[in-house]
Amino acid sequence: MKTYKRINKLAEAVDFVHELLNKNLVICDIGTDHGYLAEKTSCQDYVDKVIATDISSKSLQKLIDLIKLKDLKKIETRVGDGLSVIDSADVTIIAGIGGFEIISMLEKQNKQINGKNKCNYFILQPAQNVVELRHWIFDKKIKLISDYVICDADRFYPILIINIAEKKRTRKNIFNIWLGRDNKVSDEDFFKYLIEVYDSLAFFKTLTKKRIRQDKVLKEKFILYKMIEKLIDV
Ligand SMILES: C[S@@+](CC[C@H](N)C(=O)[O-])C[C@H]1O[C@@H](n2cnc3c(N)ncnc32)[C@H](O)[C@@H]1O
Repeated sequence: MKTYKRINKLAEAVDFVHELLNKNLVICDIGTDHGYLAEKTSCQDYVDKVIATDISSKSLQKLIDLIKLKDLKKIETRVGDGLSVIDSADVTIIAGIGGFEIISMLEKQNKQINGKNKCNYFILQPAQNVVELRHWIFDKKIKLISDYVICDADRFYPILIINIAEKKRTRKNIFNIWLGRDNKVSDEDFFKYLIEVYDSLAFFKTLTKKRIRQDKVLKEKFILYKMIEKLIDV
């Protein structure tokens, strides 16, 4: 089994939801592709079934081959768009798909059965546009259970756990929106992430205060830049 750190961390997030729910789980893995996460989670005693889906039958074939090779009895595969091919699940993982596409899946396809959610708990690892995804979660007052970043092979991955059925306001401040609410500077992965974000904002050294004041996004990013400067103590 491939044991990338990212896959392990996503599986740990499933463990966390299992502890919250305290029952056996039906898991859905949307956009499973190679199926490593479906394989990993299906090995847990507390998992009854993994529904692994992909919009591309060619992508899903990799997992179908893996299921045959390893006789993975708990995994069921389905071809289709987002949540449209599932009836219900205890927790759904959407990893490696863009933030806008995740929003669209959650908005359009979650409430389809008698007005009830197909699933309440989601583990989200957007491939990009995490800031836009956070704005959507915070604006809808969806309960954010946790939001942190992990580093695997020098790449950074935000992992968000939400309960879409519960309302809870998350403060829309610069840290929570741009960096992720539950990150701690003492965490090695987050510290490395801060350095990367700081380096990506180095262009502020060349901008005048007047130029920054003229643009709302630039102003917000400048506050972020100064905040990171303090956090990493440069
Ligand atoms: C980069 S791979 C991510 C694989 C795996 N989830 C991971 O995190 O390692 C993205 C996969 O999502 C699938 N995908 C993209 N949009 C989708 C959608 N709307 N519904 C289902 N699968 C989708 C793609 O076909 C592709 O196989």
